[in-house]
Amino acid sequence: MSGDPIPERPLPDEPPRDGIGEEDNPVPAWFNIGFYGLIVWGLGYIFFYGAMAPYSSADVYAAEVAEVEARLAATRPAIPDTNPFRGDTAAIAEGAEVYKTICVACHLGEGQGLVGPSLVDPYWKYGQDDLAQFASVAEGRPLGMPGWGPQLGNDKVWKVLAYVETLEKSAEPGVGSPEFEAQRAGGAGG
Ligand code: HEC
Repeated sequence: MSGDPIPERPLPDEPPRDGIGEEDNPVPAWFNIGFYGLIVWGLGYIFFYGAMAPYSSADVYAAEVAEVEARLAATRPAIPDTNPFRGDTAAIAEGAEVYKTICVACHLGEGQGLVGPSLVDPYWKYGQDDLAQFASVAEGRPLGMPGWGPQLGNDKVWKVLAYVETLEKSAEPGVGSPEFEAQRAGGAGG
């Protein structure tokens, strides 16, 4: 049939148009196989990478994050959960130096508090346990406590806290405690 023009078959209520005919052949099998095959493949793809463990993007991402975190944890020195310098005289002397250089400006020489809260009263806003105090000093706290971790390093943070522990305690609620602040607010009127 090569080369023979396909005769035009006009639609029933139309005049012949341009002399070009059209055959009404079935869609070839290769096309249908390709077309429906792609749809099936696409659905499989969506399922495989969207929902199937462990190949889904979410699982792959979680695995990568876990791997990086494990690597970071291996390089980062572990932070002990109690102060390793508690009672260590040399370390406390070093901590005292740090305290007198940095902390004294806001917490005053005896820890009684000024801009920063009292460190010798029974009240701890962020918790009394060693890790909470470590976090206060190393990372800072939102209401004006800068983080000193990057400048001091973990050891010196522990040492200055070991020193703070040796300051003479006060039984009275001090600067920064709710009782003290209420009194200060009320005290303005008499
Ligand atoms: C620029 C002033 C400033 C300096 C310097 C400073 N602090 Fe503070 N500190 C604060 C303030 C303000 C707060 C209260 C923050 C808040 O309530 O969010 C605070 C809170 C704290 C707390 C938490 C108290 C609690 O009740 O939980 C600790 C512990 C502390 N500081 C220790 C230190 C140590 C140790 C140093 C020295 C390395 C230091 N601070 C240096 C201002 C300072």
